[in-house]
Amino acid sequence: MNLPFKQHVLICTGPRCGGERHSERIRQEFRRQFVRQALPASVKDTPCLCFGLCSYGPNVIIYPDGVVYSGVGPQDVAEIVREHLVHGRVVVRLLFKKQEAAAPDGGAPDPAARPV
Ligand code: FES
Repeated sequence: MNLPFKQHVLICTGPRCGGERHSERIRQEFRRQFVRQALPASVKDTPCLCFGLCSYGPNVIIYPDGVVYSGVGPQDVAEIVREHLVHGRVVVRLLFKKQEAAAPDGGAPDPAARPV
């Protein structure tokens, strides 16, 4: 890979992660924590419009690891920065977990029943 940054934090600020879900506050908290925890300039944050995971939001993706965090709140940001960005440890409790509804007959999940 030829990423220009050591780590890149993509923060969804799309319509369903924003507003009442506070994604702009999450972005501001990332920036505050970058300073507070003295992260190098090679760590960058970027707001994004939508990852297509709206029901799980607010969502944050960290590259180059390709880790997706969901249901992130401003109170979670210091932990993500400390654990993931500083120490390289995934914050398991915030990992995106796709939830598919089981079919009424107990068979394969019904794709139409997925949250979107
Ligand atoms: S608005 Fe955030 S994933 Fe769609």
